[in-house]
Amino acid sequence: MKLLAKTFHGLENVLAEELAGIGATNITPQRRAVAFEGDKEVLYKANLHLRTALRILVPIYNFKADTEIELYNKIHGYDWAQHMSNKQTFAIDSVAFGDIFKHSKFLSLKAKDAIVDQFREKTGDRPSVDAENPDISINIHVSENKFTVSLDSSGESLHRRGYRDSRHKAPLNEALAAGMILLAGWSKETPLYDPMCGSGTIVMEAAMIACNIPPAWHRKHFCFMAWKDFDKYLWKSIRDEAEKKIEHPRTYIAGNDIDMKAVDMAKLASLEFRLNREISITKGAFEEQDPPFRRGMIITNPPYGERLKKTDIFAFYKKIGSTLKQKYAGYDVWVISSNEDAIYRIGLKTSEKHILYNGPLECQYLKYELFDGSLKERKRRQNLKRDLDK
Ligand SMILES: C[S@@+](CC[C@H](N)C(=O)[O-])C[C@H]1O[C@@H](n2cnc3c(N)ncnc32)[C@H](O)[C@@H]1O
Repeated sequence: MKLLAKTFHGLENVLAEELAGIGATNITPQRRAVAFEGDKEVLYKANLHLRTALRILVPIYNFKADTEIELYNKIHGYDWAQHMSNKQTFAIDSVAFGDIFKHSKFLSLKAKDAIVDQFREKTGDRPSVDAENPDISINIHVSENKFTVSLDSSGESLHRRGYRDSRHKAPLNEALAAGMILLAGWSKETPLYDPMCGSGTIVMEAAMIACNIPPAWHRKHFCFMAWKDFDKYLWKSIRDEAEKKIEHPRTYIAGNDIDMKAVDMAKLASLEFRLNREISITKGAFEEQDPPFRRGMIITNPPYGERLKKTDIFAFYKKIGSTLKQKYAGYDVWVISSNEDAIYRIGLKTSEKHILYNGPLECQYLKYELFDGSLKERKRRQNLKRDLDK
């Protein structure tokens, strides 16, 4: 069956790799999505295992329509009883691009009327709409006059792992944080540090990766569970297989924040998911602290400066740069920020750059390799070794 996984801009290739890992075929990265093929097992695994996916759609119906009446007729003409009964609730989410259909809410309303009318005509009864917690979630995508109607197999967005503390003002999306860790090529053997960890999203995602805990492990409900063809034995065997792989290896994952409230949130998240052995959290100013490990990787999301004066945020990023240079030789450092002028003040040579979106904010995700010893000295030693090897 053809399937589509939605993600964030910039994470399409990471998601494609994740899909290859769960046995998906014909994997084709698109804009903010990856198309792929697979059977029911792949569909269930996609919902359980993909760290950078937001939802998994199953396209069921493609058609063209140029007017509202045509749209109504096309939706009305499709046999909805294959997917739902009049006893179930449903919701429609539409996204419209182009000049013909501009209002996605109106589009959802028309499609809803067509489905309800079909059931009423055939059975005398109608399914109800439940925008919050529907049994069946329908997704309509229209570009000009081309419609794709899909069943949303996930329901609530997959980025919600269940540990999020809503009190932090600027948390990273969990799927974005996981994508940053995967893009950085982090492996659990490498000590990881987030010196400005806020509510702890990066360290939580890293610990879940290290322990092979599926991102949706703590989630009770997915929309595919209300489908007529839900195979609970297959779902159980997929969960059992995943459970066998969960382990608690020796890891070095540390978070730190200057704000005690953030420290508490990060600690609470790790306690709730029983990852407090894997993650250690400290309180302090990054620039005043000693590194928690002799070498390793930093992945961090500093403040972007919305609430600070320009001069202060520039000085802060300059301080980040000098602290890294003085204290973190031997680390690979990844920084995400939407503040292009500030990030430039870090003043270190970048070795990799990605564009990612933190909500609506376009961000740079930059890598700095902080060599142990000067680059000149490193090169001198490399040349010496090469000469000796000759
Ligand atoms: C954008 S938030 C990080 C959000 C985090 N990634 C999350 O998902 O919750 C930036 C964090 O940096 C912290 N911070 C600011 N200045 C700091 C400093 N000098 N040392 C350590 N932490 C600092 C703030 O308290 C804030 O929690």
